[in-house]
Amino acid sequence: MKVLGTVLGAVALILLVPSARGSEASRTCIFQTLSEPDHKFCRGELEVIYPEVGDVSCSYVPKCHGYRRKLSEEWDAPRVRFPWAKKNKKYVLVMVDPDSPNRTNPKHRFWRHWLVTDILGSDLRVGKIKGKVLTDYSQPKPPRYSGYHRYQFRLYRQPEHKTIALSPEDKKSLGTWDLKDFVEDFDLGHPVASTQFLTKNHKD
Ligand SMILES: *[C@@H]1O[C@H](CO)[C@@H](O)[C@H](O)[C@H]1NC(C)=O
Repeated sequence: MKVLGTVLGAVALILLVPSARGSEASRTCIFQTLSEPDHKFCRGELEVIYPEVGDVSCSYVPKCHGYRRKLSEEWDAPRVRFPWAKKNKKYVLVMVDPDSPNRTNPKHRFWRHWLVTDILGSDLRVGKIKGKVLTDYSQPKPPRYSGYHRYQFRLYRQPEHKTIALSPEDKKSLGTWDLKDFVEDFDLGHPVASTQFLTKNHKD
């Protein structure tokens, strides 16, 4: 997918340069892949698919075509696809920002952006996130001048016959969520797949 994205990006570049009509930002469309330490987080071929831009898993959201603004203001929850999901098993999907308010001093880590349980493997295989929504999706809105934020997706196998819920305290706020506690309380173990994309405020 990433290779294809890069190739398409290059083709788009070649096609668009001669006309040179669009604004600076919309002419160049580069899908920059993550640096080594950030790349390590991506495991198990989890795809995160938004409209227009497509799969942003393990890359920076490109600045072209207003993608960063649309991500913050227009697009609803992405499709999240895991081709290796077991059809009849259930999964838990967590989306968090570990860099709130910024990566240097993330005193609100983790910021919970989306939490869905009881997702059927058959739905995950086609990118449909349908289940019990414990936290509604909220769009990534990194504050101005706070640098790049990571938006992480962790997919867990849900233990059989287990009802998962947020504690009343967790429900009160999205920030400073103790993800480790949550994972331990419900025996979620290690993620079966994980990925992240990076973006920053669209005006920066
Ligand atoms: C990062 O956030 C801290 C608060 O946690 C703040 O004091 C600091 O100024 C911020 N730094 C940047 C570069 O935004």
